[in-house]
Amino acid sequence: MSENGNSTFEPALSEGMVGVIRCGGSEKLADYRAKGGYEGVKRVLEELPPAEVIEQVKEACIRGRGGAGFPAGVKWGFIPKEKKGPHYVCVNADESEPGTFGNRPIMEQRPHLLLEGTIICAYAVQAETAYIYIRGEYYDCIAQVQAAIDELYAAGLLGKRILNTDFSLDIHVHSGAGAYICGEETALLESIEGKRGYPRLRPPFPAIEGLYRRPTVINNVETLACVSLVFQKGVEWFKSIGTEKSPGPKVYSISGCVRKPGNYEAPLGVTLRDLLYEEKFGGGIRDGNKFKACTPGGTSVPMLFEDELGCVMDYEGPREYGTFLGSTGIVVMDETICMTWAALNLMHFYWDESCGQCTPCREGTGWMYKILTRLERGQGEPGEIELLENICKNIAGRSICALGEFATGSLVRTIPRFREEFQAHIDGKCCPFEKKYTEFA
Ligand SMILES: Cc1cc2nc3c(=O)[nH]c(=O)nc-3n(C[C@H](O)[C@H](O)[C@H](O)COP(=O)(O)O)c2cc1C
Ligand code: SF4
Repeated sequence: MSENGNSTFEPALSEGMVGVIRCGGSEKLADYRAKGGYEGVKRVLEELPPAEVIEQVKEACIRGRGGAGFPAGVKWGFIPKEKKGPHYVCVNADESEPGTFGNRPIMEQRPHLLLEGTIICAYAVQAETAYIYIRGEYYDCIAQVQAAIDELYAAGLLGKRILNTDFSLDIHVHSGAGAYICGEETALLESIEGKRGYPRLRPPFPAIEGLYRRPTVINNVETLACVSLVFQKGVEWFKSIGTEKSPGPKVYSISGCVRKPGNYEAPLGVTLRDLLYEEKFGGGIRDGNKFKACTPGGTSVPMLFEDELGCVMDYEGPREYGTFLGSTGIVVMDETICMTWAALNLMHFYWDESCGQCTPCREGTGWMYKILTRLERGQGEPGEIELLENICKNIAGRSICALGEFATGSLVRTIPRFREEFQAHIDGKCCPFEKKYTEFA
């Protein structure tokens, strides 16, 4: 393992639940407590004022695991200190991006790790209500998280006057209804409010006007699981894992053309090569094929290529190559995959999931989908690859939320790298790969 890979690393988020996701087998409250679970909540509620909790989260430098890597403590610090009405916590468990499935095993197998962090967050920002917005298709997650919440109410760890302190909290599970856009934090708020999941214009930001226009913290499942670890094991323990600017453990979801697809926990800063080729992780490319490209952070970020396998997988590393760590959903493509077909497949998703509020995203994704369809069918015209590049440039920075720019992720680095392959579809009037066009609509 690489230098940043902390070779003595013991999985803490997953406790070793690696490989293909298992269903069922959720950790019960008694088992979680036997390992020191909820000691963090007890210490926080009994000993630490909310401002001190925020300071410790800042000190631990927990980067938001939902994609942007924004420091959780800084985000919590934006919530007004003076309380003039309700504050809320919303947990983003929508996890609908292709190739991203790392939140799922945490909710299915270690729901208390998420709930402990949610309680600590709510206390820190003085919220009395928290919502966990879970992807609608994640039936097992919804059942396991709800069962764990029921255990907490029965044990006096949720509800009125938790552990006989002045702090009270209710947690509700809210099931999504199959829209990727509801993972965008302001669309998620609209959805909880019972409205169509349209992203909001910012400012105001959710910390000032969030759910029901009240101050709201929105964090990803894994971010809050990291909060639990920090208050169970300490800030120094957390910072001893990973890299200086990106400390802590991370669940990497590896799928596509690898021998062993699955979720693998590793320190932030492990290299992409280690994740794909080490036997304890992806185990190498399937069928002995050659690696061609992969998405380092879900399908919404630009791809990485063979000479970039040394990329350090923390919040800084992929930026050196013009891409992002995102959700650490690594979708691997080998030499048999046509990059025009791969881009078409992904473009269909973004076109289908665009909420349609902004013209560049609504129309741009549709145009790119049509152009890629023509290219893949062998009906492309000279100049259409340049047109794709032009559309990409005109979406970025011109839309309400990031989905528009996400849609360009499969093209911005891929066209320059594989221009000849894209061009071969026009010159040869067919896809040069054995895998032929698939209807997506
Ligand atoms: C289209 C779109 C979909 C998103 N989906 C998710 C998601 O499923 N889960 C998630 O945590 N963040 C998602 N995000 C990012 C959230 O808007 C937000 O940044 C995140 O929940 C903040 O949590 P964190 O600070 O703990 O990372 C999405 C963003 C966009 C633009
Ligand atoms: S960028 Fe796309 S998904 Fe986001 S608000 Fe605009 S139209 Fe909707």
